Amino acid sequence: MTQTCFYVHDEPAQLFRAAAQRISELATVAIAERGRFLLALSGGSTPRALFDVLALAPFRDGIDWDCVEFFWGDERAVAPDHPDSNFQMANEALLQPLQIAPERIHRMVGEHADPGTAARDYARTIATVAGPGSDAPPRLDLILLGLGDDAHTASLFPGTAALAETESWVVANDVPQLDTTRLTMTFPLINAAREVLFLATGAKKTEAIAAVWNDHGANADAATTPAGRVRPHDGQLTWFVDRAAAPDQASMYLEDEIVE
Ligand code: 6PG
Repeated sequence: MTQTCFYVHDEPAQLFRAAAQRISELATVAIAERGRFLLALSGGSTPRALFDVLALAPFRDGIDWDCVEFFWGDERAVAPDHPDSNFQMANEALLQPLQIAPERIHRMVGEHADPGTAARDYARTIATVAGPGSDAPPRLDLILLGLGDDAHTASLFPGTAALAETESWVVANDVPQLDTTRLTMTFPLINAAREVLFLATGAKKTEAIAAVWNDHGANADAATTPAGRVRPHDGQLTWFVDRAAAPDQASMYLEDEIVE
């Protein structure tokens, strides 16, 4: 059962502080109950402001970062020091400032000559670090996701093969819209998470958010958008958007939690 919560924050600064607070809460529970916090970071530009907040007080000292295992939801076909690399941005804004130990940083090898091998290797890494030792996808504690203007999330773009993946946890996805192949977590892994937190800001996202939130009026199989198919099977789906991004009908969602 998915518990879905939609929140509208007046300003981006409030949204990123609230997201940092949510991460802190989830990390505290996970570390207390299981000794570690399995966190997948999102890509794109939106999370930079969140990482900046997490790297400063009170979150710098308020989270036991030595117990956090870092993963990524997707990665571009670039080297880890390339300006387009999702790892590079997180490394610069969060991992280096917090002095995270390399053995707890599990980046996707976007630059691999054979993306399919890189995807399979990454799935093995997840199984090794987080897996329950069964065939079921591991339950990451929190997966951060962003939203594209076309309602893609991670690198699950409209019309691409990865949308239909039902077995692999990570795939190399050809994205003709961008003339590239990207590594991405798939719905089986994403929807196994204890919580998924979407962060979206700015008016450019309004149309996509409206389409995704409208998808929540029906079950995931009927979803018209990639992001509309993110429904943690036994977990929480949380949306943080700012006022600029919120659809007009947002109030319809805000009155209560939608439990599916
Ligand atoms: C990526 C992300 C992608 C991103 C959205 C939003 O690698 O680009 O995984 O899904 O979250 O495209 O990007 P912005 O935050 O830059 O708007």
